[in-house]
Amino acid sequence: MVEWFVKTGSGKLNTLRQKKIKIGDKMANLIVYYSRKGENYWNGSIKNLKKGNTERVAEYIQKAVGGELFEVDTVKPYSGDYYECIEEAKAELRANARPEIKGYIGDISKYDTIFVGYPNWWGQMPMCMCTFLEHYDLSGKKIAPFCTNEGSGMGSSERQLKSVCKGAFIADGLSVHGAEAEQSEAKVSAWAKKIILK
Ligand SMILES: Cc1cc2nc3c(=O)[nH]c(=O)nc-3n(C[C@H](O)[C@H](O)[C@H](O)COP(=O)(O)O)c2cc1C
Repeated sequence: MVEWFVKTGSGKLNTLRQKKIKIGDKMANLIVYYSRKGENYWNGSIKNLKKGNTERVAEYIQKAVGGELFEVDTVKPYSGDYYECIEEAKAELRANARPEIKGYIGDISKYDTIFVGYPNWWGQMPMCMCTFLEHYDLSGKKIAPFCTNEGSGMGSSERQLKSVCKGAFIADGLSVHGAEAEQSEAKVSAWAKKIILK
C-alpha cells in the first residue's frame, strides 16, 4: 500500500502537524462560498452576471477534488445594481456588521479541508462570510481561501479570515480575476489539488 503524508492545520498557533493518510482514504472537503449574481464590474464596464464568478470557481474546485458545495446567502439580498451594492457593502464593512444568513451546514466537524470562496469587496470578504464562519469552532481545520476580484487580488481577506477562524490553519489563497473566472478551470484545479496534498 502506497502511503504519503499530508499536512493539516493544528489547533494552535497556525502551525502544521502531519497526518498519515493512505490512497483510498476519504478526505472530506467542504466548498463554501458567497457569490452575487446581477450587475458587476467587469473589465472596466458593468455586466449583468447570470452566474457569479466565485460560484464558477467553486464548481471547478468540486470538479477537481470533490466535496460538498454550500452557498451562503443573505436573508436580506444585496442590490442587483452594482453602485447600490457598493454602498451597501461599504456600510456593512464600516459597521463591522454580521448580516443574517439563510442557513448553515449541519455538522462541519466531518470536513478536513474547507475551501472558502468570496468576491473581494472593498479589499475584504463580504461580511456574511464572517457570519457563517464565526458560527463554528474551526480550530484544527485547514481553510483554503479563494477570491475573485477585478484587480485587488486577495486584499486583506486572509488577515480577516485569520481573525474569524480562530485556531485554523489558513493555506495560501487563490486569487482569480473575475472576468476570467470561466476560463480559470486549469489554474483552479491545479491549486485545489495542491491544497489537498499539502
Ligand atoms: C460591493 C462590491 C465591492 C467590490 N470591491 C472590489 C475591490 O475592492 N477590489 C476588486 O478588485 N474588485 C471589487 N469588486 C469586484 C468583485 O470582486 C468581482 O467582480 C468579483 O469577481 C465578483 O464575484 P461574484 O460574481 O462571485 O460576486 C467589488 C464588487 C462589488 C459588488
